[in-house]
Parts: sequence; C-alpha cells; structure tokens
Amino acid sequence: MKKIGSQVTIAIDGPAGSGKSTVARRVAEELGLLYLDSGAMYRAVTVLAIRGGLTADSPELLEQVKACHIEFEDNGKTILLNAKDISVQIRTPAVNRRVADVAKVPEIRHEIVKHQQRIGGEGSIIAEGRDLTTIVFPNADFKFYLDASVTERAKRRLAELQAQNVNITLAAVEAEISARDEKDKTRAHSPLRAAGDAIVVDTTDKTINEVVDFIIAKVC
Ligand code: C5P
Repeated sequence: MKKIGSQVTIAIDGPAGSGKSTVARRVAEELGLLYLDSGAMYRAVTVLAIRGGLTADSPELLEQVKACHIEFEDNGKTILLNAKDISVQIRTPAVNRRVADVAKVPEIRHEIVKHQQRIGGEGSIIAEGRDLTTIVFPNADFKFYLDASVTERAKRRLAELQAQNVNITLAAVEAEISARDEKDKTRAHSPLRAAGDAIVVDTTDKTINEVVDFIIAKVC
C-alpha cells in the first residue's frame, strides 16, 4: 500500500458512468482511505420517497430525511437505511429515474451535505459525486473531474447492467444517463460542474487502471 498523509481529502466529481465510483473505490483500497459514495445517499433518500409515495419537495420527505440514519459498511459496499441493507434497491430503474429530481431539492441537499461533511471529518477520505469538489469539500487537498463521451459512459453502464442480467438496450441506457446529466447540470443548487481547481480527466479512451494510476501519482 502506498503512503498518504493523515487527514487527506480527495474529491472527485463527474457525470454518470464517468468511472468515478470504480476509480474512487480502487484508490481507496490502494491508499487505505475511507470511500464515500455520495450518490448512494441521494439514492437512499429516493428509496424513502418511493416507499412513502412522497414527492421530492414534500415536507414529509424532508422530515424523514432529517430523522433517518444512513450509514455505510464494508467501506461503501453496503448502504444501510435505518439499519436495513438497501444496497440493491438503490440501483433499481425506478430509483435511477427519480433520483435527480430528489437531489435537486435544496433542503434535502443541505441535510445530506452536513452528513457527508461529518463523515469527511472522521479521517482521510476519497469522496465522489456531483458537488464534492465545489460544495461539500471546497478545500479538498486534491480535486478531479472525470468525464467521458456519453456513448462510452452508456456502454460502461450497459456492461454493468448486463452482468446483473438486466435486459436493456444501449439506446435506453444512453437516454437515461443523458436525461439525468441534463438535470444534474442545469439545476439551480449545486449543479454538476468542474471546479476551477479540479484536474479534468477524459476517461473515454482510458482503462480503469490508467485512471487509478494517474490519481495515485498525483496524490502520493
Ligand atoms: O453517482 P450516482 O449516479 O449514484 O448519483 C445518482 C444521482 O444522485 C445523480 O444523478 C445526482 O442526481 C445525485 N447526486 C447529486 N450530488 C452528488 C451525488 C449524486 O446530486 N454529490
């Protein structure tokens, strides 16, 4: 394992399928860092909304968000909502369709960001999402923005879904991630954008290993 200083924060942002999660997980393993999958937290809130039949902007949903416990186990592999494992549920098509609408509500973001910053205070961390470099950890020691062409990102997502025996076309996956990107980039609060001081990495023609090695070389 390579060495990294104590209390180091690495923040990564980028659109769906840019490789953020896989890369951040690998860097976390190689450098012994805590891994924070911030998107999983918005997905957990979306599970709450779907279960309760609540709209994204309903006061009931906000109350539930304030009262709920979202925790990670096994360095981000498992997510618990009120002590129940929802790791599979957060990846369903229903959640994919609704999560960007839930994530655009400022009061919900406020609660989730507070939680993320608490987790970040616990030690050295690599965190990824849409606003980690801009809002959650604006003073992160290292910032990266991963991007890739929409077709390449859709192909990667399709391969993941096919591995789980989900029957879906490339065109459908591309349409879903394009719609989500559009919402994430154009929302009023904390839109997805590359922070001015982030290193932008186009991963279209790069392997996961190449991106992992690039990040480790920058931070060590
Ligand atoms: O990263 P993932 O694709 O799981 O994120 C799901 C959704 O959660 C994103 O499309 C976005 O709407 C929202 N999100 C966000 N801010 C983050 C992470 C995710 O708004 N930091």
